[in-house]
Amino acid sequence: MRHFLVVLITTFGLCAPLHAGTHYDAAKQTFRLDGGNVTYVFGVNERGELQQIYWGPRLGEKDEVPAAKSMQEWASFDDSYNNTPQEYVSWGAGLNYEPALKMTFADGNRDLVLHYVSHKASDDGFDVVLKDVKAAVYVTLHYKMEAGSGILSRSATIENSEKQNVTVEQAAAAAWSLPRGHYTLNYLTGRWAGEWTLNQEAVRQGARVIESRRGSTSHQANPWFALQAGETNEESGEVWFGALAWSGSWRITVEQDTLDTVRVTGGFNPFDFGYVLHAGESLETPVFYGGYSKDGLGGASRLLHRYEISNILPHRTEPVAKLKPRPVIFNSWEATQFNVDDEGQMALAEKAAALGVDRFVMDDGWFGQRKDDHAGLGDWYVNAQKFPHGLKPLIDKVHTLGMDFGLWVEPEMVNPDSDLYRAHPDWVLNFPGRDRTEQRNQMVLNLARPDVRDYVLGFLDKLLNENDIAFLKWDYNRNWSEPGWDQLPAAEQKRVYVEFTRNLYYILDELRRRHPKVEIESCSGGGGRVDLGILRYTDEVWPSDNTDPFDRLTQQDGFTYAYTPQVMMAWVTESPHWFNHRATSLTYRMLSSMQGSLGIGANISKWTPEETALVKRLIGEYHQVQATITQGDLYRLISPRNGSEFSATQSVSGDKSQSVVFAFIHSTQEGRVFPRLKLEGLDPQAMYKLRAIEGPLAHGTPEVASGAWWMGHGLELSDISYDSTVSFHGDFQASAYRLDKQ
Ligand code: DGJ
Repeated sequence: MRHFLVVLITTFGLCAPLHAGTHYDAAKQTFRLDGGNVTYVFGVNERGELQQIYWGPRLGEKDEVPAAKSMQEWASFDDSYNNTPQEYVSWGAGLNYEPALKMTFADGNRDLVLHYVSHKASDDGFDVVLKDVKAAVYVTLHYKMEAGSGILSRSATIENSEKQNVTVEQAAAAAWSLPRGHYTLNYLTGRWAGEWTLNQEAVRQGARVIESRRGSTSHQANPWFALQAGETNEESGEVWFGALAWSGSWRITVEQDTLDTVRVTGGFNPFDFGYVLHAGESLETPVFYGGYSKDGLGGASRLLHRYEISNILPHRTEPVAKLKPRPVIFNSWEATQFNVDDEGQMALAEKAAALGVDRFVMDDGWFGQRKDDHAGLGDWYVNAQKFPHGLKPLIDKVHTLGMDFGLWVEPEMVNPDSDLYRAHPDWVLNFPGRDRTEQRNQMVLNLARPDVRDYVLGFLDKLLNENDIAFLKWDYNRNWSEPGWDQLPAAEQKRVYVEFTRNLYYILDELRRRHPKVEIESCSGGGGRVDLGILRYTDEVWPSDNTDPFDRLTQQDGFTYAYTPQVMMAWVTESPHWFNHRATSLTYRMLSSMQGSLGIGANISKWTPEETALVKRLIGEYHQVQATITQGDLYRLISPRNGSEFSATQSVSGDKSQSVVFAFIHSTQEGRVFPRLKLEGLDPQAMYKLRAIEGPLAHGTPEVASGAWWMGHGLELSDISYDSTVSFHGDFQASAYRLDKQ
């Protein structure tokens, strides 16, 4: 067992490497982690608690870090236990703040005080073992810092070595402490069709809770935060940030204590939580990733993007440079809704191929007795009226046209009007004898049950064995209600909050293992299940059902604070848009979507030859610069938020050989002119050649200039004239440019 593997610290000498970039100072009992431009230090204080000492810019190699020493009490009301920032503080000894861990013992005791026991190197980082001062409850904290970015991953394993059960009522992955100071908290919230709103507010004393109680990640809030110190802006100033890798109910609490220390604690949502640990059992928390940047929110998101590409996404064993850009897809949903059939989809496939699309995806409607959203979920056989000879003829046709084939599924759901529900009404989340709430006429299968897990894995495996499918769009269109699991004793039913998500990950992992070439998108009625947990098993996500190209500018802006454009799918759809009736040009729609991983979701059978030619040309352009846009360094030059009249982004390839700029005019008043764009991240010495992918350039703009020019002087898109060949003006206008190193 972990805690018996006590490290003989004396054999390490005074300051020994535990792991690359990690040092343990035996004399002071401090742990120091260095990676990228970041140093993180914690130590064992004089009481035996694990205390955070430093998190910030990288310190000098020879710098002496002081030993941990608990904070003093503040009169009799804020004692030292409360004032001392611990790495993983438990609820006991009078703690008044958010605990990382809280539990109830069989005898009713609820006091838990964790002290350091030992540490040891692990495969890819190191572990520190804590133990309650009395009971045989152990907590192993796992640490791993990435050398390039300084992003630290933290999680905990809670082990019950008592003879009796204990019930874990609250378990965080980690708690982060920041230096005392004034901070602005950034976090993402939303709703269906309105995800990815960036909120910015001053941190004050008390707690700010961002969470999902909905059983999955949710549209309502996303498990990411960034705290800016003092006067920070997009490209400068100190930022501490973090993201939780969990696709079930979660909670992040940002709390400023009475003495102004800021702590961020995140993990399983304690609401309705209660995980019974039998003697000898343990509970593994999700991972909480944390990072630091001195280059503002832009620097923080670039670190996260790179980390996601190299450490989180599948195919992570390949060098980053080799991660495939996403195929340009066509998706049938907005074109045909549930009315899919052989003939209609084949006609769309022909049109899609003519545009230069790489992947044809058939969305909802192909299975069971699915005519609308009232029936069919759960019955994953091909609908014989719509596809009399199965999916093969359509898939063959798609292949003949030079594309691969993707298919929509919603594996965790069931309609009451389905063979599956008629056979297994007990398979859904429910409390026996109580009503079962339906949303979109569907219920949630209890994936925590082993038989349900096996059923879901079984039908997906069969589907992939029997059909040449390259891609699954995995949807999830409601939240939980009545989360009972009546197979288990009453006291243990709340395990559902952990086991459901674990089984989801298991199925995804197993499918990938059995079908290594199949790619998967995480969709949940748009962006309801996007987090670093699901991204370990999925290649892309659907950020929102709102595909209006103007709304998407703000959504995509918010999305990129936490997630890389590599995974950000963006479809070009119809105008006027179904959601808000806004009319926009096809060029505008294309350029808005080209900021992420491009897809076409319109009814392309209606497109004119001119529209087809325009889209074909822009897909061709996109293919040439896609790796820079989706895997390069993103600079948000002008924010679309807060009613801005303009917005602009710039992406720079890792080797600085290429850059792509997107500029948008929303709606201007009083003739305001598009601002000159001072570019970022280029090699100042190198010469770059400018070319418009689409859009005007002001008089006198050089064709070739140095990186220093583009960054110092900037890119001028407008003069004051009304000549659209030299001046970028109007409402809902878009332009795009590329710069290539000479
Ligand atoms: C919700 C998704 O977000 C849409 O893209 C579409 O797949 C529908 N579900 C299908 O029911």
